[in-house]
Amino acid sequence: MLSRAALSRQAGLRRSSAIAQRFASTKSLRDTLKEAIPIKQEQLKKLKAEHGNTVVGDVKVDNIIGGMRGLKAMLWEASVLDPIEGIRFHGLSIPDCQKVLPAAPGGKEILPESMLWLLLTGQVPTAEQTRELSRELAEKGQLPKFVEDLVDSFPKTLHPMTQLGMGVAALNHDSSFQAAYEKGMKKPEYWTHTLEDCINLIAQLPALAARIYRNVYNPGTPLPGINKDLDLVGNYSNMLGYGANESLTEYLRLYIALHGDHEGGNASAHTAHLVNSTLSDPYLSYSAALFALAGPLHGLANQEVLRWQIAMQKELGTDITHEKIKEYLWKTLKSGQVVPGYGHGVLRNPDPRFIALQEFCDSRPELKSSPIIELVNKTFQVAPDVLKEHGKTKNPYPNVDATSGCVLYHYGLTEFKYYTVIFGVSRALGALTQLVWARALGLPLERPKSMSMDALEAFIKKP
Ligand SMILES: CC(C)(COP(=O)(O)OP(=O)(O)OC[C@H]1O[C@@H](n2cnc3c(N)ncnc32)[C@H](O)[C@@H]1OP(=O)(O)O)[C@@H](O)C(=O)NCCC(=O)NCCS
Repeated sequence: MLSRAALSRQAGLRRSSAIAQRFASTKSLRDTLKEAIPIKQEQLKKLKAEHGNTVVGDVKVDNIIGGMRGLKAMLWEASVLDPIEGIRFHGLSIPDCQKVLPAAPGGKEILPESMLWLLLTGQVPTAEQTRELSRELAEKGQLPKFVEDLVDSFPKTLHPMTQLGMGVAALNHDSSFQAAYEKGMKKPEYWTHTLEDCINLIAQLPALAARIYRNVYNPGTPLPGINKDLDLVGNYSNMLGYGANESLTEYLRLYIALHGDHEGGNASAHTAHLVNSTLSDPYLSYSAALFALAGPLHGLANQEVLRWQIAMQKELGTDITHEKIKEYLWKTLKSGQVVPGYGHGVLRNPDPRFIALQEFCDSRPELKSSPIIELVNKTFQVAPDVLKEHGKTKNPYPNVDATSGCVLYHYGLTEFKYYTVIFGVSRALGALTQLVWARALGLPLERPKSMSMDALEAFIKKP
């Protein structure tokens, strides 16, 4: 009998070949979406009409008091997370995406624009469609002057994530959704204005994020303008000051594409979805999501991993053995801290995003011999057994953040307080995609029912 993972892989391959057959389309992003939306609307209508009362699962007291873990309670179109196999984007696994999604000219890694196209439409774009999207994003990437002035007025000591969230909220000054809503737009138009805001925001994020980096870490230095011939990350890397480092730029493309979406229940994606369900515009919705991402149990973990690995490196010196790492892990656990970069709310295996980033490291000699990457590898060889023995975490394996920041560090982007900002540029791809779908499908205001402990006890006692 085939294992669950093998069955799910087979199903995924069937889905991916169906997607690959549509590879030759030359349609624009908007026309592709206009075709895809009525099909999904029909699917939702049928689901509602024919299966509205089908029971999907039980709600246990554990779900209510346990952060809603495992509760199947929201609709999310672009990706599904299997605890064993990891993430699939519209049925495509990470290796599938690496095979079929266009890369930058001369590069190998997935272009985030092609991932955005896949997330939005469920289809694999051609290289030309991807280039068109890159061009549109570059054309729309400039920040309004008042946002530049606002960001420039922040103290250098304000955390870069706070700056990013505030900058994104301020961009709602030009929200197409909000302006159209004030004029009384009809429901079928919601998604088109949401899409315009989402594309504009994704386009503007690199300039905003790079400005924050410049102000905090290199104040007074000039910021290059947006080059219309470059892709989104090509421009971002250039504005960060790393445009000449093609390896780092390629890494950023992979990192941003892979972090783009991780189904809907994670704190940042869920926050964007919740806030947008009030018909708050995409800028305000994503700003709220960024403040969820800024928490150490979520997006801040990549910063924490690096801080922790560097402290380990300092304490253990040059001769770092497995035994010494083991002792350091126990010291962390005994002091009541979590081992950053390990564990996950859903995954129960090593994160395939971690594996993809490790493969990137293995393909480059300078990363293979980098002391910090070697330390990440050695930690991976020891940590799962220590965490199993510790016996608390349901998943003793690494998540994507176990390695993501260390590669940036190796390439000289050493300001680790900034790392979650890069995650924030990335997560926009998936979180904003879902806003377009939520409005296209007319999903309602999200409003779960809460219960007090007294109400729970009264419910339990009822005959
Ligand atoms: C990601 C994370 C928040 C998931 O939390 P979760 O769904 O509650 O995880 P679990 O159900 O496995 O947690 C059960 C227990 O194990 C502990 N645990 C989980 N991961 C742990 C880790 N990496 N190190 C030590 N203990 C851990 C939890 O703190 C919890 O302890 P408690 O019962 O005393 O509160 C958690 O694994 C974590 O804190 N990891 C480190 C931070 C990190 O890497 N975050 C990035 C996520 S992509």
